[in-house]
Amino acid sequence: MNGLRAGGCVFAEQEAALLEEATGGATADLERLVARRVAGEPLEYLLGWAEFQGLRIVVEPGVFVPRRRTEFLVERARDVLPPGGVAVDLCCGSGAVAAALRHARPDAVVHAADLDPAAVRCARRNLPARVYEGDLFAALPAALRGTVDVVIANVPYVPSAAIATMPPEARDHEPAAALDGGADGLAVLRRVARAAPDWLAPGGHLLSETSETQSGPAVEELRMAGFDAHAEACDELSATAVIGRRTPDCG
Ligand SMILES: C[S@@+](CC[C@H](N)C(=O)[O-])C[C@H]1O[C@@H](n2cnc3c(N)ncnc32)[C@H](O)[C@@H]1O
Repeated sequence: MNGLRAGGCVFAEQEAALLEEATGGATADLERLVARRVAGEPLEYLLGWAEFQGLRIVVEPGVFVPRRRTEFLVERARDVLPPGGVAVDLCCGSGAVAAALRHARPDAVVHAADLDPAAVRCARRNLPARVYEGDLFAALPAALRGTVDVVIANVPYVPSAAIATMPPEARDHEPAAALDGGADGLAVLRRVARAAPDWLAPGGHLLSETSETQSGPAVEELRMAGFDAHAEACDELSATAVIGRRTPDCG
């Protein structure tokens, strides 16, 4: 623990306990992991998992580490998904959102997709089936078109110029394609909003995480795509989401 504390880890005690558990107490292994942690590697890559909605989600190096604030998307998806409904976790990364939603709503049919083969491989370790590789909706089976009740898309939303100001843990270790949302941070969300109406069932929902400052423009993007849209915040998780409901004007 002293090494972690000296290295500036804020939660040195908790992290030391988790690393000890991961190594089964083997001193040499523990020292190696502590050195990597002090050098700035995300704790979750060293453990091989991240806690998300009470679940241990497998996380591999090079795959976005699920953030606790994203639990808000799962909670809202759980609320709007009809019984036996169909959900898609687009830009799924490790598949944390899809796995948590399956856990919360075992009646639902949950699909997940990502462009990055490393993310897809990792998601397949967290989800028993229905994980696809490809660009946004193009990854999905065509039969899903017009049938999806909820699309959850935690897209990359950091404006390109702001990546350099992110904590080194994210900037140096997570893939740029998982963070970079283009010049205004809304490039991927814009594409999702425009394509989603084709895949959603009438009255279906699109949910996406955003930052507090981007929430106004993000809502506007959904409205321009025909959604009845608004933003919701969760103070407890420091989370902001944009939520759109498909209307007959969509598409
Ligand atoms: C912010 S991470 C979110 C990961 C996961 N949903 C989570 O909350 O932990 C964004 C993810 O979007 C994926 N991505 C970026 N562009 C994409 C695209 N055009 N099509 C599909 N996935 C994409 C990245 O590979 C990355 O896994």
